[in-house]
Amino acid sequence: MKFENFERERLSPIIADIEDYSLMSNEEKYFVNGAIRYLKPQKILEVGVYFGGGSAVILNAISDIDGAVLHSVDYREAQKGKATGFVVDEFFPKLNHKWRAYKGGDVSRFIEDIGSEIDLLVLDTAHIHPWETLNFLCVLPFMKVGCSWCILHDIFLHYDPWNRDRLACRYLWSCAVSEDKISPSSKLFANIGAFRITNDTKRYIDNLFESLLIPWGVEIPQDDLDSIGRVIREHYPAQCYDFFARAIEVQRFMFGQPAEKLERVTDERLGDVIDLDRPIVIYGAGDDGLRLAKFFEGRGIKVAAFCERERRCESLNGLPVIEYSNMPERLRNCNFIISVHGKEREEILRLSHGRFGRVVSLRALGMTYGKQEERLYIKK
Ligand SMILES: C[S@@+](CC[C@H](N)C(=O)[O-])C[C@H]1O[C@@H](n2cnc3c(N)ncnc32)[C@H](O)[C@@H]1O
Repeated sequence: MKFENFERERLSPIIADIEDYSLMSNEEKYFVNGAIRYLKPQKILEVGVYFGGGSAVILNAISDIDGAVLHSVDYREAQKGKATGFVVDEFFPKLNHKWRAYKGGDVSRFIEDIGSEIDLLVLDTAHIHPWETLNFLCVLPFMKVGCSWCILHDIFLHYDPWNRDRLACRYLWSCAVSEDKISPSSKLFANIGAFRITNDTKRYIDNLFESLLIPWGVEIPQDDLDSIGRVIREHYPAQCYDFFARAIEVQRFMFGQPAEKLERVTDERLGDVIDLDRPIVIYGAGDDGLRLAKFFEGRGIKVAAFCERERRCESLNGLPVIEYSNMPERLRNCNFIISVHGKEREEILRLSHGRFGRVVSLRALGMTYGKQEERLYIKK
């Protein structure tokens, strides 16, 4: 079924009016309109309202369906100085009687009031992982296996260079299992899709819990996690809640240890980072140190020695290993290149400040595995 081509004439009369008030493209709006006209849902839950252009599309599509109601949830009360969802009240007051709006929290706060038998979920919220997955997990127990559907917007948003980190919808789209996944035709990949909630969606729900281990792009406030946790504890098996709780611990640990900030050093810039007339000493004779040595050798740049706090051998790969406290006088003006990480790096950086010709923290990547060309990075 091509939802985007189904009963387009229903949406066409209002499409120009809402153009500026929805973050969906017109073709995506036609997809939502067609899905509703085809599926004829009674109870729709929209999560992520913004100005309300999407709500207007949905309300317009259900206006002649007896008993159909749209529940809309948004985290924010207002958007850019306008009330969240203002478009419905301001431009489509006649559609308003089929609308229930819930603002000021994520969907876990309202889902028990909204209740079960949700036929269609239209999900379009933060786009930063894990939000959409958490939203979906909170709504799924209130949907009907076999016949409810979920429409997910922005599943290809990360294709834009300025939205590379907007991966939440893609993770959810890829991890949710369903025999029926539908997207409009597109030159490459569509940015909107719909899937039916089937037995397999529930059977393989662990996929979604697993995806909570993928690094989160945002730290979620504790009171939101508590509220989401309450829904998960109430509506999923105990081991799912346990996994959720442990995933939170993992993410908390990772937020406490931010990833290294690396900046690429091209061969042309190498002379800015190290002094090519001075000897090179690499601190740390582990995998990272060896990789750096290989990087320099590959460019015909001689490495004088490895250095360690407590040396474990006298030489490695044909290079001498020197103890940090016994640096020979002739190497004192060296490029002292730190290859170690974490606390050891911080400590050596502090100890070495002003002690050598140049002190710099570098990392070479791409040499050990695969065929990727080796690249050098300076650690910030
Ligand atoms: C991309 S916009 C929604 C666009 C809308 N569907 C449309 O058609 O124009 C995202 C909206 O989700 C809301 N939001 C962000 N995170 C949320 C969350 N966790 N729960 C509910 N709403 C959220 C934002 O306040 C914003 O209004």
